[in-house]
Amino acid sequence: GTITLKAAESKKISDMLVGVFFEDINYAADGGLYAELVQNRDFEYALSDKEGRDKDWNSTTAWSLSGGKGTLAIDSVQPIHANNKHYAILKSGAAIINSGYDGIAVKAGDSYDFSIFAKNIDGKASGIKVRLIGANGEVYGETSVKGISTAWKKISAVLKATKTVADARLEVVPQTNGTLAVDMISLFPQKTYKGRKNGLRADLAQTVADLHPKFMRFPGGCVAHGDGLGNIYRWKNTIGPLESRKPLRNLWGYHQTTGLGYFEYFQYCEDMGAAPLPVIAAGVPCQNSAIDEHIGLGGQQCGVPMEEMGQYVQDILDLVEYANGPVTSKWGKLRAEAGHPKPFNLKYVGIGNEDLITDLFEERYAMIVKAMKDKHPEITVIGTVGPAAEGTDYEEGWALADKLDIPMVDEHYYQPVGWFINNQDYYDRYDRSKSKVYLGEYAAFLPGRPNNIETALAEALYLTALERNGDVVSMTSYAPMLAKENHTQWNPDLIYFNNTEVKPTVGYYTQQLYGQNAGDVYLPSDVALKDANKEVSNRVAVSVVRDSKSKDLIVKIVNMLPVAVNSIVNLEGAGAFVPSAKRYVLTGTPDSKTAKPVADTITVGTTFPCAVPAYSFTLIRIKTK
Ligand code: AHR
Repeated sequence: GTITLKAAESKKISDMLVGVFFEDINYAADGGLYAELVQNRDFEYALSDKEGRDKDWNSTTAWSLSGGKGTLAIDSVQPIHANNKHYAILKSGAAIINSGYDGIAVKAGDSYDFSIFAKNIDGKASGIKVRLIGANGEVYGETSVKGISTAWKKISAVLKATKTVADARLEVVPQTNGTLAVDMISLFPQKTYKGRKNGLRADLAQTVADLHPKFMRFPGGCVAHGDGLGNIYRWKNTIGPLESRKPLRNLWGYHQTTGLGYFEYFQYCEDMGAAPLPVIAAGVPCQNSAIDEHIGLGGQQCGVPMEEMGQYVQDILDLVEYANGPVTSKWGKLRAEAGHPKPFNLKYVGIGNEDLITDLFEERYAMIVKAMKDKHPEITVIGTVGPAAEGTDYEEGWALADKLDIPMVDEHYYQPVGWFINNQDYYDRYDRSKSKVYLGEYAAFLPGRPNNIETALAEALYLTALERNGDVVSMTSYAPMLAKENHTQWNPDLIYFNNTEVKPTVGYYTQQLYGQNAGDVYLPSDVALKDANKEVSNRVAVSVVRDSKSKDLIVKIVNMLPVAVNSIVNLEGAGAFVPSAKRYVLTGTPDSKTAKPVADTITVGTTFPCAVPAYSFTLIRIKTK
C-alpha cells in the first residue's frame, strides 16, 4: 500500500493540541502530587469528608498518642486563623504520632523541612523533639525545635533521614510535662519538583512534565464546581499563608487541604512550560444541584444566589488580576508577596464543567461570560456544552455557545474502544465558523477495565483525527490523569502511583508521543493500504504534521489490525530530508498493560518503505534539510 502526502494542501493547526487534565480525584493532590508527608496536618479532617461516612474521620484522624503519657484533645477556642479552626492540645507532655498517607516514605541522606505552629498554654512547655520512627520505634532521623511562646508561633527545623523506608511515622515529643497547643504540623522533602517550597513530589511532577503538555487544566472536573453551594472551589480560599487557607471536603470522598492551591498550580504550569487553564464553576455546583449533604444527585436545583453573583463574577475577574496584574494592583500584589512578581501569563479561563443547560445555569453563565469578554477580551473563555452522561449529544450546550458567541467550548466523552474507531470523522463534520473545541476529558474507557494496548491505540488512532481537525479542535486532555493505588474513585487513569513508585500506563505513552511530537501544520495524505488484498479498514490511521520551530516532519501511523501492514511512504513536496530519522514503536498484544515505546533509527527519503506491526503505533520524526 501507499501513504502519499498531499503537501500542497497543508493547513495550520493548533499548537496547543495536547495538554493535561489535573483533578484532585484518586488522592491526586493531598497524599499525591502535593509533597506534604503529614496527613491531617491541620486537624481539620471531619466526618463529612469521608465518602459514605462509615468510618470515623475527625480532627485526630492519622494521629495517635505515643507512649501513653498525657492526653491529646482537640480545641477550637483560639485558632491560628478562623479558616483553620481546630488544633491539638497536648497535655502533661503527651507525644503524638502521625501515620502519613499510607506511611511516610523517606530516603537515607535526604533532608526534610519540618514546621509546626505551637503555643505554650501553661508556661511549662519548652522544646519539642521530632523524630521519624518505624513501627517498632526504630529512629530514622530526629531534630528539635525551641522558642515556644505564649502566642501562636511557627517554628521550623530540618530533619535528615538516616534510612530509606516506605512507612515511617512522624513523632512529635514535647520535652516537658507542660500543656502545648499545636497545629499545622508539616514535613516536606527538600527535594521537591524544581526545589519549590510547599512544592510537589519530584518524581510524579516530572512524569507529568515529561508529557510536554502545552497546558494544564485544574482543579477539575467535578472538584471545580463541587456538589453543593458550600463546596464550589473558590480560588481565593486557596492562596496565601497555608494556615489561613480554607480546607474543603473533596466531593470524591476525602479532604482537601488546599495546600496545593492556585499559586502552586500556576507555578507548576510555569515550571513545566504549560499554559495554565483554570476551570471555574459557572455559579452552579455539579448538575446545578445541592446534593443532599453528599453522594447522589437527588438535591434541589440551585445556584449562587443572584444577589451574590456580582461578587462571584468579581472573584473571577480578580483571578485574572492575580495571575496577570501588575504588582501595584490589589491581587497582583498578593502574587508578588507569594514570591512571583512576574505575571503568570494566563490566557485561558474555563467556565463551567459538564453543567446541565438550564435557565438557572444560563443566567449565571451568561453573566460571567459577558463580564470576562468586557473586562478581559485578551483571555479566551472556554465554556461548557453540558454533561457527557448521555453520550456525545451536546445540542443545547452548542446552541447556548452560539447564542453567547463563546470562543471555545469544552466537550467530554468517555467511550468504549469501538466508539473511537468508528467516530474518527466526528470533527470532520464540525462547522469551522463556530466555537473552537477543547476536548477537555476523554478516554477509551470501560469502567474498571485497565488501560492496555487496545485502549492506548484507540486513543492514538483518534488523535490522528484530532490532529487532522486541529483547525477546529484547539486543545485536548486525557482524563483523569493521576491515581494513588488503593485510593481510586475512578478507573482507568493515566498514571498510577504509590508513595515510592510512579507507574505510567500504556496510554501515558500515547499521550507522551503526541505531546513530545506535536506540530502546528497538518499535511493531509492519501492512504491506500491493503491487508491480504483487502482495503484496510478504519483500524489504520495516519497523520503527518510539521513542527514549524524545528521544521521536523512527524509521521504517525496507528495499526489496530491483528496483522502487520506494509506501505511505501511518499513525502514528495514536503522538502528535503536528513536520511537518518528517529522512530518510536509502541506495540504489544491488545491486553498488554506493560508495553512501552521502543526507539530506533531508520533511513528515510522522499519515498521509503514502512512496515507497521500488528497492534502498533509508529511515530517517525524526520529532520528536514
Ligand atoms: O474525570 C473524572 C470526572 O469525570 C470529572 O470530574 C468530571 O468532569 C467527569 O464527569
